[in-house]
Amino acid sequence: MLIAPSILSADFGNLSRDVNAICEAGCDLVHVDVMDGHFVPNLTIGPVVVSAVAKVATKPLDIHLMVENNSFFVDLFTPFNPKYISFHIEEEKHPHRLIQKIRGLEISPAVVLNPHTPPEAIEYLIEDLDMVLLMSVNPGFGGQKFISSVVEKAKKLKALIEKKNPNCLIQVDGGVNDSNIQELKDAGVDVVVAGSFVFNHPDGYKKAIESIK
Ligand code: DX5
Ligand code: ZN
Repeated sequence: MLIAPSILSADFGNLSRDVNAICEAGCDLVHVDVMDGHFVPNLTIGPVVVSAVAKVATKPLDIHLMVENNSFFVDLFTPFNPKYISFHIEEEKHPHRLIQKIRGLEISPAVVLNPHTPPEAIEYLIEDLDMVLLMSVNPGFGGQKFISSVVEKAKKLKALIEKKNPNCLIQVDGGVNDSNIQELKDAGVDVVVAGSFVFNHPDGYKKAIESIK
């Protein structure tokens, strides 16, 4: 299981220290939640802060866009050389076009599905994707309760992926912890995002990451 800690739960007064620490503690990706106050009712970080994160991160960046006007934000974050950029299918009129654009920038394209969006909505995009992110909370905030219907959805998505593009990864984001990780693994999930579980773990980041792995 790969783990991408969400820096939304980091201490923003000590962001470079925290980014460095999760990388040292053995995470696989650094998950960056970009919210614009329109697509979701919260506002987070832009290129000024992500530029600082990119300088200290020793693991690849995984940028999760929760915004209107995805293409504009893809352009904003491309200079920081992220491994993945994911965008919400609910907010994109031309997902196939945007996937081609992201791949053309030598970034791995991923799409995100809100809790209500069925996996069939992206059936005809899977062959062009490197990852599908299933939200297991409503996007906008860290520290929310895991929506367990995502497990069934991951199984359905896994079946589609096996048919269309077995190399495409499944990522789950929101409310992930050491009590739901096994059922996610059994459902075929490859990567989990964990914010509050990692950053608030009483025994530190390393123990938190090890317990997920
Ligand atoms: C929610 C974000 C998540 C969130 C995860 O909109 O996409 O990445 O920060 O935080 P936890 O693990 O605390 O649910
Ligand atoms: Zn996220």
